[in-house]
Amino acid sequence: MGYKPAGVQTGSVAGNKDGFEGFLIFEHALRSAPQAKPINGPRVFQDKRQLLETTNAHLGQIGRIILDSLSRSLQLTGDKNLASHPRGDEVGHIPHTDIGSSSMVFSDVPGLQVYHHREKNWMFIVPRPGRMICNIGDSAEFLSRNVLRSSLHRVIPHHTQRHKVKLTVVYLMRPPETDTVFVDRDGKEWRSVDWHNKKNRLFAKILDSQASNTALTGRNIEVDLWNEQDQAHL
Ligand SMILES: [Fe+2]
Repeated sequence: MGYKPAGVQTGSVAGNKDGFEGFLIFEHALRSAPQAKPINGPRVFQDKRQLLETTNAHLGQIGRIILDSLSRSLQLTGDKNLASHPRGDEVGHIPHTDIGSSSMVFSDVPGLQVYHHREKNWMFIVPRPGRMICNIGDSAEFLSRNVLRSSLHRVIPHHTQRHKVKLTVVYLMRPPETDTVFVDRDGKEWRSVDWHNKKNRLFAKILDSQASNTALTGRNIEVDLWNEQDQAHL
C-alpha cells in the first residue's frame, strides 16, 4: 500500500503546495496479504476488504476486455496486444546509480553486480547470510559535493543460478523531496523531486537513449555497460 500526503508537490496555484492526498492499493499486495492480518492503511480498508478485492478483480477484468477490444480494432496482435503481459524475455535491472541518498539491499540470491572502475569490469556481490548491501546514491553524491560517489550497479542472472527467481527487499532513503536542492555532475541545480522524476522516466526509455545519457549511470565511460559478457565470475 502507498500513501501520498497533501502538500509535498507543486500546487495548481502559483506559490502554493498541492492539495491532493491519496492511497495506493496495489492489487498484488492485496491478493497476497493474509486475510486475518490487517492490511497497512486506514481501518476501513480491512473492514471492507472483500469489497476492495471484488472491485479490483472486476475492474481488472473490464480493463482487459476494453484493452483487448481496442487492440483488435487497431490490429495489435501477440505481444503488442495492450492487454497482454509478455514475460518470457524479462531479465534483470539495467546499469544505474540509485536516485536517493542510500539503499539497503537484502537478498539471498546472487545477481547484483557493481562496476569496478579500476578493473573496468562488472563484479558480482554475492549475498552472505545475515548481511545487507548498502549502496550510496546520487543524492548523497551531490549533497556531499562529490566526496561520496554513487555506486554503479546492475542485476543480471548469476551463471550458477540463471533460472532462479531473485527476491530482493530494498529500503530506499531519500532527502526531503521539495526542500532539498543539489547540483548535479554537470553543475545544474535540481530539486530532489525533479531529479527523482527525471531519472525514473529514464528507466523506461529505449536502450539507446539510456546509453547516451549519463544521468542513469553517472559516468562517461568507454566500455559497453550493457554487455552481459563483460563480467567477473565471482
Ligand atoms: Fe539500484
